[in-house]
Amino acid sequence: MIGVVVVSRGEVVGESFAGKEGSQSAIVTALGEAKAASEAVTVYTNFEPSEDVSSLIEARPSRLVIGTAAGDQSSRSEFVRSLSQRGVVVDFGVCQEECLELNERFFKFSRTGLPFVTVKFAQSLDGRIATSTGDSQWISSTAALRLAHQLRRDHDSVLVGIGTVLSDDPRLTVRLVNGRDPLRIIIDSRLRIPLDARVLERKSNARALVATTEAADQNAIRELEKSGIEVMVLPTSADSRVNLSDLLRVLGERGIASVLVEGGGEIITSLLSDRLVDRLVIAVAPKLIGRGIEAVGNLDVMNLSEAITLSSMKTRRLGPDIIFDARLA
Ligand SMILES: NC(=O)c1ccc[n+]([C@@H]2O[C@H](COP(=O)([O-])OP(=O)(O)OC[C@H]3O[C@@H](n4cnc5c(N)ncnc54)[C@H](OP(=O)(O)O)[C@@H]3O)[C@@H](O)[C@H]2O)c1
Repeated sequence: MIGVVVVSRGEVVGESFAGKEGSQSAIVTALGEAKAASEAVTVYTNFEPSEDVSSLIEARPSRLVIGTAAGDQSSRSEFVRSLSQRGVVVDFGVCQEECLELNERFFKFSRTGLPFVTVKFAQSLDGRIATSTGDSQWISSTAALRLAHQLRRDHDSVLVGIGTVLSDDPRLTVRLVNGRDPLRIIIDSRLRIPLDARVLERKSNARALVATTEAADQNAIRELEKSGIEVMVLPTSADSRVNLSDLLRVLGERGIASVLVEGGGEIITSLLSDRLVDRLVIAVAPKLIGRGIEAVGNLDVMNLSEAITLSSMKTRRLGPDIIFDARLA
């Protein structure tokens, strides 16, 4: 995501973001809008420009303000160096944290080849994601459900454990907002998934992938594949379940740049234990459940110094719920 604002004498004279004008770059479009400005302009952009910027050189801005860069944060592109040599003041790293967050999925994927992992769940004030009978629909409000569908739309894939499929029979498609369906991934070491599970329905273009282990029954694999479902056999973890690190690596190799994890508790706990989570979005509902299914189980944290800590935490009210949105430090 690239946005550009061109300012002359304190007034916005041009603005654009990538994608708005088809293939034309955001900078070219914003400068096109700003042509009438006779004064020297200041160009603000969240992302360091690296190509297709001859128009920026021609426009001779007096100042270029950049939030962040795709590559090494300390070395500037050839282009920015040449602008500096021409006397343009270049300010780098303005609102850097916000700019990094805006493209965090892209940055992680391009740096590591691994998808960016967002874990999202709804919990009661006392940290339960379901009652002791497994009832979880719905802990949070309709507004929080809409947020969940937005997150699905914004990620390449959505992932749940087999426990959630057996208990809630979710579809994991995008329905409450407009947008494309993500790839739906089910973690199921022994292929307990019923063939009529709604997550396997092929009513839309949404594809489904079941990640399993060698413990899976070969007939069950064939049955799923016959219905057009992809089955991925992965190495096992130390506790004979699907190795989630391997899964993320393979997803990255396939170009899946982001995964939204929607539960349940066991999957969330495994991912947190293995430090595979980048972002946590928690909808906290003003309800107390008491004994029930906990959102996060044993993380083997014996001393507080070992606790997983969160950074750049944002909170906001959404209907009756509070949304916590944070990155793992
Ligand atoms: N409030 C919410 O936001 C929310 C969201 C989702 C779910 N829920 C609730 O959560 C409950 C289900 O949660 P859950 O904890 O029982 O099930 P889960 O996390 O959905 O699935 C756990 C199962 O996944 C399989 N698995 C395979 N590899 C794994 C690995 N590496 N780590 C962990 N699990 C692995 C295991 O079964 P196998 O060994 O057979 O493979 C395991 O029992 C339901 O009551 C549901 O309603 C609530």
